[in-house]
Amino acid sequence: MLEQLEQMPADPILGLAAACRADTNPDKVDLTVGIYMDEQGLCPVFAAVQEAQRLLAQEETTKAYLPPAGDPLFNQGIQRLVLGEDCSALAGGRVTSIQTPGGCGALRIAAEVIHAAAPDARVWVSDPTWPVHIPLLGSVGLAFQTYRYYEPLTHGVNFDGMVEDLKAARAGDIVLLHGCCHNPCGADLTLQQWGVIADMAQQQGFTPFIDIAYQGLGDGLDEDAAGLRLLVSRLPEVIVAASCSKNLGLYRERTGAAIFVCSGESNANAILSQALVAARRVYSMPPAHGALLAGRILADEQLGAMWRAELQGMCQRINGLRSSLRHALERYSGADFAFIEQEKGMFSFLGLSVEQAVRLREEDAVYMLNSSRINVAGVNANNLDYLAKAVARVL
Ligand code: LMR
Repeated sequence: MLEQLEQMPADPILGLAAACRADTNPDKVDLTVGIYMDEQGLCPVFAAVQEAQRLLAQEETTKAYLPPAGDPLFNQGIQRLVLGEDCSALAGGRVTSIQTPGGCGALRIAAEVIHAAAPDARVWVSDPTWPVHIPLLGSVGLAFQTYRYYEPLTHGVNFDGMVEDLKAARAGDIVLLHGCCHNPCGADLTLQQWGVIADMAQQQGFTPFIDIAYQGLGDGLDEDAAGLRLLVSRLPEVIVAASCSKNLGLYRERTGAAIFVCSGESNANAILSQALVAARRVYSMPPAHGALLAGRILADEQLGAMWRAELQGMCQRINGLRSSLRHALERYSGADFAFIEQEKGMFSFLGLSVEQAVRLREEDAVYMLNSSRINVAGVNANNLDYLAKAVARVL
């Protein structure tokens, strides 16, 4: 039976990361998968995570399952981290969440809950969006519509186009937004633009679904959540998929949460019960290790302060790299790369064609996605000039 199955193509992101790992060129540059890398090209473990891990190893007495909704301390911590300490929906008992295997698990569980509530819901996704959004949400049975978002000519958000397209979103529809550090383009909405989306959601009745996988890597933890919090302050219902992969460096520990801001407290209980049934159906119980670390760090003043300082350092380094890369590219190519400095988080499009991206890979061992999306955190002092010269050459 199984022998009839055909070989699937490699994942467009993970396949390239694997190809880069296998490349023996000592000058290779890995700008593929969205993981934070330091000056040595390594993805470090936060010192706060190491310390939490040490404490956990000393104190852990069981490996019995976590509760199905996950670690309560983690759920409290992630809700406050994402929604803010002074969130009135939180104070009013209108928020519930379930700990999930990473941000992907959060997207999937939220999609299951959306599908249970409205099987015909259409999910509006930005053009472009993270390529995994479509299979992840689509496998639940949700249908998609696309709204204009990134304009390659201006290297910025086509907000007029976005608004025009979203005028067709109606009650029962879901609008998927990137909370910050848009993946793949790095171009974010301004707070004023988030306000326009809130107006539209109020008037048209659609529900925002916010994927916030990079909180803290754009401008800061609170700054990056400002748009999301604005929607939460004004709307009865907002759905959030949060991830601790990047901002706590817990990638392989699969630590995330689906957070539901609901219209009322009893409704929140019903929604959580739906999420629990969905989780039981898909993976049963959440993984413990990452959430126990994150929950501890978010609840502990000292560990929390240590983590925030480390995260701020990463954020500053990424913004510094954006500036250095912009100037190096401009120096070698003579073209305008100011947009790289204006965009946020790990990703930007360099604005190259597929042929140019492939040439860079084949001739220079510079690995970026075919769309020319780069992971800015893969740049460092050692590869900056090499990368900028190679890009200038293919331009
Ligand atoms: C990325 O876009 O590179 C990251 O979100 C990692 C992934 O799973 O694709």
